Amino acid sequence: MTQLFQYAFLLLMLSGTESLDNGLALTPPMGWMQWERFWCNTNCTKDPHNCISEKLFKEIADVMASDGYLAAGYRYVAIDDCWMAPERGPDGRLRPDPDRFPNGMKALADYVHSKGLKLGIYADMGNQTCQKFPGSKFDLKLDAQTFADWEVDMLKLDCCHSGSHSDLQEGFQNMTVYLNQTGRPILYACCWPVCAGPKKDYKSFAQHCNMWRNYRDVRDSWENVYGTIDFYGNNTGHFQEIAGPGAWNDPDELVLGDFGLSYDQERAQFGMWCMMASPLFMSVDLRNIRPRSKDLLLNKNLLIIHSDELGVQAYRVFKGNGLDVWLRPLRSKYFRAGSYAVAVVNYIDHSGPVQFSSSLQDLGMHITAGYKVTEAFEGKDMGKLLPEDLLMFKVNPTGIFIVTVVPVS
Ligand SMILES: *[C@@H]1O[C@H](CO)[C@@H](O)[C@H](O)[C@H]1NC(C)=O
Ligand SMILES: *[C@@H]1O[C@H](CO)[C@@H](O)[C@H](O)[C@H]1NC(C)=O
Ligand SMILES: *[C@@H]1O[C@H](CO)[C@@H](O)[C@H](O)[C@H]1NC(C)=O
Ligand SMILES: *[C@@H]1O[C@H](CO)[C@@H](O)[C@H](O)[C@H]1NC(C)=O
Ligand SMILES: *[C@@H]1O[C@H](CO)[C@@H](O)[C@H](O)[C@H]1NC(C)=O
Repeated sequence: MTQLFQYAFLLLMLSGTESLDNGLALTPPMGWMQWERFWCNTNCTKDPHNCISEKLFKEIADVMASDGYLAAGYRYVAIDDCWMAPERGPDGRLRPDPDRFPNGMKALADYVHSKGLKLGIYADMGNQTCQKFPGSKFDLKLDAQTFADWEVDMLKLDCCHSGSHSDLQEGFQNMTVYLNQTGRPILYACCWPVCAGPKKDYKSFAQHCNMWRNYRDVRDSWENVYGTIDFYGNNTGHFQEIAGPGAWNDPDELVLGDFGLSYDQERAQFGMWCMMASPLFMSVDLRNIRPRSKDLLLNKNLLIIHSDELGVQAYRVFKGNGLDVWLRPLRSKYFRAGSYAVAVVNYIDHSGPVQFSSSLQDLGMHITAGYKVTEAFEGKDMGKLLPEDLLMFKVNPTGIFIVTVVPVS
């Protein structure tokens, strides 16, 4: 296996890209988002406990504040599509469905803020949202002001039904200006790249948005989750050069705790989203979640990797023989200069654990005094290794193993 790592290592170019200057998202944002788990469930007669309504968002906010999620850094309660009434109001403004949000959005924002959390909302750059609620294309400025008036803290702007590419670009860029003009700091999450066609200007996404979706919607299956990991691994957009404080690639929500992933696969999704400095938006019923999934979401060792100050997204250095190897340089009060997180994903779904073995020097780590190696999920000390020593461990099928590698003093 060792010789497979013998190829030129990327000399890391730290992001020189200008990012959106609204003071937000200096580390990748964290919160909860409705979409993957609750979708466009609008029938509150049939399903009052799970329908898209102020009740759902208040209950999620309660759990986030009381059960350790807020304390761990999950701050945004993000509403997705299907919150709106079918038509704009007589004043031309968007309005929430009056039956499902009887107290209005300002009251919901006040409630969420009273818990120490922030409220996210959803709109669409086209003439309709993806689920055919009113679009914002011709009302971007008014809608930005409406969201600010409601004291919303985040906007996800989708791109369904948005027409030509030039409209799309102009619209997403205009919204950056309109949000700024409200004077309220509003985290701007863009779906722009997904609709931008094959030629994507990632520098422009980073200048105008705090986070942006690059790829398809996440679904509750390993095939989908691993496909997304593989997409970033293929690195068609030079993703890690664009990301950095204020501006993040967004692989979409976390589905761990839902129905489709095994425990190993849940660890793999969480581990890789942390490695990739991805926004962490849980899409799971936090009112009723398996304890082991909750423990993963709150894992402090992984979260300090996720929110590392250097803000460098992991990059895949090797794929083959069933294993993907990813590196993320780290530097913070927890990790001295020269530290890395190393993640190995076993993407094969048969035949038991696979042995990984590589010297640290083959991974690009050459400090002669050696490194302290720690398994990340449990924090288990794996001893000290010199650059020529072999780092060895086994990785379960469709699972992950992550170590931090920190130069000894
Ligand atoms: C608006 O943009 C200016 C200049 O880029 C920035 O200094 C300011 O913080 C922004 N304000 C908000 C509310 O985003
Ligand atoms: C909601 O569900 C109930 C019960 O299944 C059904 O009778 C009703 O027509 C549905 N309402 C809408 C608006 O679809
Ligand atoms: C909405 O957009 C679609 C396609 O993007 C277009 O066919 C339709 O004419 C538009 N409707 C309006 C009212 O602009
Ligand atoms: C963007 O702003 C420009 C200048 O104000 C305006 O002419 C244009 O119509 C806007 N485009 C969209 C899609 O909002
Ligand atoms: C990644 O690249 C490989 C090899 O070109 C390709 O087979 C695979 O489909 C790509 N994965 C994604 C998700 O694009």
